[in-house]
Amino acid sequence: MQIYFEEKTGTFHLTNSFYSYIIKILPNQQLGQLYFGKPVRHKESFDYLLEMASRSMSPCVFEGNGFFSLEQVKQEFPSYGTGDYRHPAVRIQQSNGSAITEFAYTGYEITSGKPALEGLPATYCEDDKEAMTLHVFLKDQLTGVKAELLYTVFEAVPALARSVRYTNEGEQAVLLDTAMSMNLDLPDSDYEFVQFSGAWARERFEHVNHLRPGIQSVESLRGHSSHHHNPFIILKRPDAGEQTGEALGFSLVYSGNFLAQAEVDNWGVTRVSMGINPYNFSWQLKSGDSFQTPEAVVVYSDRGLNHMSQSFHKLYAKRLARGVWRDKARPILINNWEATYFDFTEDKLVGIASQAKDLGVEMFVLDDGWFGQRVNDKAGLGDWVANPDRLANGITGLAERIDQMGMLFGLWFEPEMVNKDSDLYRAHPDWAIQTPGRNMTHGRNQYVLDFSRKEVVDYIYDAMAAILGNAKVSYVKWDMNRSITEAFSAVLPAEQQGEVMHRYILGLYDLYERLTQAFPHVLFESCASGGARFDPGLLYYAPQAWTSDCTDAVQRLKIQHGSSFCYPISSMGAHVSMSPNHQLFRSTPLKTRGNVACFGTFGYEMDLQLLSDEEKQEVVEQIKFMKEYRELLQFGTFYRLLSPFEGNFTSWMVVSEDKKTAIVGYYKVLNEVNGPFTRVFLAGLDPELDYQINGSAVQGGDELMNIGLITTDSSAGECKDKNLQSCDFDSRLYVLKAK
Ligand code: DGJ
Repeated sequence: MQIYFEEKTGTFHLTNSFYSYIIKILPNQQLGQLYFGKPVRHKESFDYLLEMASRSMSPCVFEGNGFFSLEQVKQEFPSYGTGDYRHPAVRIQQSNGSAITEFAYTGYEITSGKPALEGLPATYCEDDKEAMTLHVFLKDQLTGVKAELLYTVFEAVPALARSVRYTNEGEQAVLLDTAMSMNLDLPDSDYEFVQFSGAWARERFEHVNHLRPGIQSVESLRGHSSHHHNPFIILKRPDAGEQTGEALGFSLVYSGNFLAQAEVDNWGVTRVSMGINPYNFSWQLKSGDSFQTPEAVVVYSDRGLNHMSQSFHKLYAKRLARGVWRDKARPILINNWEATYFDFTEDKLVGIASQAKDLGVEMFVLDDGWFGQRVNDKAGLGDWVANPDRLANGITGLAERIDQMGMLFGLWFEPEMVNKDSDLYRAHPDWAIQTPGRNMTHGRNQYVLDFSRKEVVDYIYDAMAAILGNAKVSYVKWDMNRSITEAFSAVLPAEQQGEVMHRYILGLYDLYERLTQAFPHVLFESCASGGARFDPGLLYYAPQAWTSDCTDAVQRLKIQHGSSFCYPISSMGAHVSMSPNHQLFRSTPLKTRGNVACFGTFGYEMDLQLLSDEEKQEVVEQIKFMKEYRELLQFGTFYRLLSPFEGNFTSWMVVSEDKKTAIVGYYKVLNEVNGPFTRVFLAGLDPELDYQINGSAVQGGDELMNIGLITTDSSAGECKDKNLQSCDFDSRLYVLKAK
């Protein structure tokens, strides 16, 4: 890893063994982008990459020079209104109504390691030798606003972290209303734009479209990153697949309104920008104020999508997630939500926990409905005190009973919300976000607390800390079940109302930070009606997330497959639930439900007392398997082999670091009579080693990767042996061990 600066040509070259990233101070002192791709040897000048050409109708910066046009030149930190008509990285409203800025280079600094971003989640180093950071300073002289562009290169991962810090060194207040975290102009547009979109219970489905002139984007305006689009996109070459080819992943470490956009201009240049969604955003920067954007992480891969994903997994599992649980295999849990919904008593809960304990489960999680008057979804949110009618000895008493059974205890909260029917709302109706004189739109009968206000966050902190400090709680499921509407804060002046959505997220991060610091032993799992806030921002505080409210194994193939493009297996909450499934009403074999959930943090979301003895025995085996292999499943190198978005079969694989153990999951949606022969090409094995497959057949790593693992079924309709018969929604696991 190295960061070079060439004084004479004004060239910065950031490089490691994976990529080169080259930028240059332009003739007008703005910052230009020259190259991002496979590593190249360093030299003093790469000026030929400026590719300036005289084009009719292009506005030019210098009189008498028809070549230097901002709409022609590839840039790092573009603004609108001085010749570049593409979307900008920055826009600043000034007191005279102008929004023109000219950010010119003033200096740079190279530091070892990576600085923390104040109040925001971000990737980090444990040792300064792991990364280097370039700080480029630019200033708009007229307003006095300074921009510090931060670029971190990592030694061991093909990732580049970027963000911008603004400081108003001028006299007058200004309004920052576009503050993207990164801008990257790529020289051509022969890319496919891959996005991960969906809806509640159908999150992060993969969609692939070739770039075309104009804009392709995904965004959120909901106040959270959302079920609908994830703050993550990929630009891949059309010939790039899972194992080969060039792919660039762009991920925003942020949980609120975002925009991820690719704009193809008329000369085929692709501008990628990512950051806080500029729509409805503005931030007042008074003289002396600073504003830090969230961090964007770009990963470069010339070895296909699996390598890109593995790079994100490595960085996010080890240098974004924090705390004592970061490196630990996660406890196998049972959650009562789908078992009881709101209908439970303490004894009923203990019955569920005790059966689960007998089968090998390690942690019992009490979901929604334990506090205030919360007996349905119409009341109680905000009142974080146990309901004595349900829990006679409070959370402390129940946690004690669970502890005595030898299980860990976990608890559900939805800290950001309030029902009108609650003591909190009755005491502080103005704490719910609302716009004066307007209707208050509800979602699931609830309203959003104004987390942009410190006193609100303080109150919720105290309430949660009182529970966590007085009971043996090892895990918190932090839910969030609606989007924000009528965004407005009662305590901000008119000119600062554009700050509410971002201030809300800062308040959320503040609460997470305080709770994770005060209760470092607690494993936090984020959740937002399932996966509406499955984003890198929250991984910084909660190393795992509830991937989706859909627990159907077949739908989960797509959800977990889509999520795996950016997010590590250790971050994906995955549970075995009842059949027929509660969201899709589909019946699937218990085996398949287990085989899908084991590529995740694993648990059960059902009343195991309702199972037959035979099924209970199967659960015992699943748990035994998970305990033996969870370290590998959650932290091994993960490969996607077959995609549920492309056909009837899905296959995933994890390989241990020493390549001596691997697990392959193979899943079939519909059964076929007399189907074709099938085989799956494995990946990541040692070609020199021989592997025993499920304790019997032995094949070489070279064979398994080059010839493939034979997965042909005993054909349905012909096979009379019940043990070999296949069915719809069938699956298999293969454990490979080097001999
Ligand atoms: C939505 C979550 O995603 C579910 O798992 C469950 O916790 C419910 N909320 C409870 O209200």
